[in-house]
Parts: sequence; C-alpha cells; structure tokens
Amino acid sequence: MIFEQVKTGGDRNFAYLVADENAKVGLVVDPSFDCEELLERVRAHGLRIKYIVNTHSHVDHVAGNATVKGKTGAQVVMHSLAGAKHDVSVDDGDVLELGSLRATVLHTPGHTVDSICVLVDGKLVTGDTLFVGKVGGTDFGEEAKREHESLWGKLMNLPDDTEVWPGHDYGTRHRSTIGEEKRTNPFILRRDFKEFLELKKNWLEYKRIHGIK
Ligand SMILES: [Fe+2]
Repeated sequence: MIFEQVKTGGDRNFAYLVADENAKVGLVVDPSFDCEELLERVRAHGLRIKYIVNTHSHVDHVAGNATVKGKTGAQVVMHSLAGAKHDVSVDDGDVLELGSLRATVLHTPGHTVDSICVLVDGKLVTGDTLFVGKVGGTDFGEEAKREHESLWGKLMNLPDDTEVWPGHDYGTRHRSTIGEEKRTNPFILRRDFKEFLELKKNWLEYKRIHGIK
C-alpha cells in the first residue's frame, strides 16, 4: 500500500494519498489550498486517482478539489449530509475499493454533521474529529455531545494499534495511535462528558498553562 501524508498549506492542513501500489489506483483525502506536492506524489507513483475524499466540507479541506479533479478526473466523495458539491455520497460503513485495498468510511459527526474518518489497513485518517493531543472544535451543545459519542462510540472501539493520521498538524507529532491518544490526549482522558465539555470551555487556558500551540 502507498500511504503518504502531505502538507497542503491552509491552517497546517494535511492531505493524504492512499493507493494500491500494484493496481496503481488510489484516492486522495482533503486536498487544501496548495495541492501541487500532492499532485507531484501522484505523478511520481504513476497513479490513477479514483476518488477525492473530503473528511468534511470546511473550505480548508475541500479547497483543492477542483484542481485535483481537473488533473485526475477523480470523483469527489463526501458524507450524504454534506452541503457542498460532490459526486458520490457515502455513509457509515460504506467501502471504497482501490484495487485490493478497501477504505471504510466511519461517520463521526460532531465538528460538523458530515464529518467522516477513513480506515484503511489499520490506518485511520481522522480529519477534524481527532488530532494528536486534541479533538475537533465544536460548540458547547449538541456538536460537543455528538463528537463525544463519535469518539467513544466509534473511534475508541478500534484496536489500540490503529494509527491516527489527523487533518491538521496541531500536535507534537504528525501521527499517533488510538492507544497513545487514550493514554495522553487530555480530551480522551476525560471520558465523562461533563469533564470533556469543561476542558473544551477552558481549552485556551489549558493550552497556555501547558505550553500547547
Ligand atoms: Fe474543520
């Protein structure tokens, strides 16, 4: 499998390239404002890009869609609740086939109603649902509740060695694992929803005290 994390400008955004190296077919996740390096990686591997998958429809995750679609002819894939323009709607449990690879969609609402994560061969592309040491931004009401349910009802049920590949470079490292986040992510350490919500409300102060960027 080809699996590459590529910086794409924006707010420290990460895009991903996932492909079956034998079948030479792949997908990209979240092309942002600057997708030249991402397209260069596609060319370097000689890949046919079948899908552009957006983890949600915020502008910094979809800004490169038109450019990548223009160069590759790929279909844009979003969750069925996404308001933005797309070619293929997916929902929880749907599978995108890339040669012998199977990329499974997990619907993880919270940060947005259309947030999805993509699981392929033990690697989880988490968009803005889970970061290294942080979780997605939400309001302090229904969005926070849904995010907490998505984290504990879905992501934390995955095996501890599942790799976490986030949508932004917000942490001290570019990647993590579910087990590592369970041990160290201050939001995941607060399993009780009230405590989770308290940390969200006090996050700026918490970041200042702990020297988090
Ligand atoms: Fe976002």
